[in-house]
Amino acid sequence: MNVVKVKNYDEMSEKACELIISKLKGNEKPVLGLATGSTPEGFYDRLIEAYEQGNITFENITTFNLDEYVGLAKDDPQSYHYYMYNRLFKHIDLKEENAHLPKGDAENLKEECERYEQLIKAAGGVDIQLLGLGTNGHIAFNEPGTSFESRTQVVNLTESTIEANSRFFENKDDVPTEAVTMGIGSILESDEIVMLVSGENKSEALAQIINGEITEDNPATVLQKHKNVTIIADEAALRKVK
Ligand code: F6R
Repeated sequence: MNVVKVKNYDEMSEKACELIISKLKGNEKPVLGLATGSTPEGFYDRLIEAYEQGNITFENITTFNLDEYVGLAKDDPQSYHYYMYNRLFKHIDLKEENAHLPKGDAENLKEECERYEQLIKAAGGVDIQLLGLGTNGHIAFNEPGTSFESRTQVVNLTESTIEANSRFFENKDDVPTEAVTMGIGSILESDEIVMLVSGENKSEALAQIINGEITEDNPATVLQKHKNVTIIADEAALRKVK
């Protein structure tokens, strides 16, 4: 596991942008796994700048997002479809048909999970997967206790995740209680994983990934099993690492 220590959120976003652009440029038809949440916002802003400056084109890139809330339509401002479109996709030359997220409003969610797995397979698998980290150690929406073998599935969100994500909603009661998420087994199949971590509130979960035991009680500790992981973390997030 390669840990890159940076000063703060801005430096984390900058480093992530440099690293991912260099990886994308080394691949003719890259498949990039994306995350939502607060952590990658600065990274997406820098990616857009790099595109505007002519440093990167997304013409040959395919993307797969980790997750989507159940029950929210694409155009719902709280959906991850909406987040991705507004924060990144509409600003760059990524082809619409190459940008994938699970459909949280699919009529048959079980079929949707299978469809999503097949789509990833058909694209040749994910080359680089971007991850954020939940304060409880979740990756994507794989909450503590999720099997390391899990595939794309519908999950219940824990109270702590609902609480953490309520900052994006008007009322806590508006936060969906379920999501479609790529499984831990699906994520581990990516060739390479880049995790971004910023802030003191992530320091315990990050210390567990780096110094702790591998346990399903803390899903992100599974990254110790993957052969190619880079964690870009700021000083505050690294505070509890030995
Ligand atoms: C989002 C996702 C989540 C977030 C995590 C951290 O697609 O998969 O696992 O990465 O909840 O969220 P933030 O970055 O908002 O702290």
